[in-house]
Amino acid sequence: MNITKAIFKCSSERISQVPKDALCDIAFIGRSNVGKSSLINMLTQHNGLAKVSATPGKTRLINHFLINDNWYLVDLPGYGYARTSKQLRGSFAKIITDYIFKCEKMHFLFVLLDIRLEPQKIDLEFITLLGEHGIPFGLIFTKADKLSAAQRKHSIARYTATLSEQWEELPPYFISSSEKRIGREDILDFIEKCLAEGK
Ligand code: GTP
Ligand code: MG
Repeated sequence: MNITKAIFKCSSERISQVPKDALCDIAFIGRSNVGKSSLINMLTQHNGLAKVSATPGKTRLINHFLINDNWYLVDLPGYGYARTSKQLRGSFAKIITDYIFKCEKMHFLFVLLDIRLEPQKIDLEFITLLGEHGIPFGLIFTKADKLSAAQRKHSIARYTATLSEQWEELPPYFISSSEKRIGREDILDFIEKCLAEGK
C-alpha cells in the first residue's frame, strides 16, 4: 500500500468522541515507550505526525490519523505506566479497554513489543485479554535496530515459545525499526489485506 496522504484528525478522551464516519480503524497499542508513535510516523513517512518522546506516557489520548482519505491509523495511550499510585501498574486504563472492546470502528489491533525484552507479564496479560474477547490482533516487535540478526531471531523464538504455551495458532507478527525503516512494506501490505477483507 502506498500512503499518499496522512493527516491528524482528532484526539479523543473517551470513545464517544471518536470520528462517527464509517471508516475503519487500524490501531496500535503497547507499553509506554515501546515505539507506537514512532512507528506511526515511520509508516506514514511523516515525521512529527504522532508525538514521540523519550519520557513514557506521552500519548494520553486516542489519536486518529486519516490515511488516504480512506481509513484511520490510531495511536492509543501506552499501558503499564503508572503516573499516580492510584493507577496500578498492570491494570489497563478504561480509555483503552473501552476502545478495544466497545469501539465498532476498531478493525485490527497491533500490539507492539520491544524486541529486546523477554516476554513481559503485562503484555502477556493484555494478549490473553484480547484472546478471551476475540479481538483480531497481530504483534509488532519494535526497535529491531538495537539487536543483531541472531539476537532478533533468538528473541522472536523466545516469544513464540511463550505464546505457544497458551495459543494453538500464533498471531501474525512483524519485525520493525522506526529508526532503520524496517518492516514498513510488510506491515502496510498486511493492513491493505485487512482493510480489503473488512469491506
Ligand atoms: P508513549 O506515547 O509514551 O506510550 O510511547 P510510544 O510507545 O508512542 O513511544 P515513542 O514512539 O514516543 O518512542 C519512545 C522512545 O523510543 C523515543 O525515544 C524513540 O525515539 C524511541 N524509539 C522508538 N522507536 C524506535 C526504534 O525503532 N529504534 C530505536 N532505536 N528507538 C526507537
Ligand atoms: Mg506515543
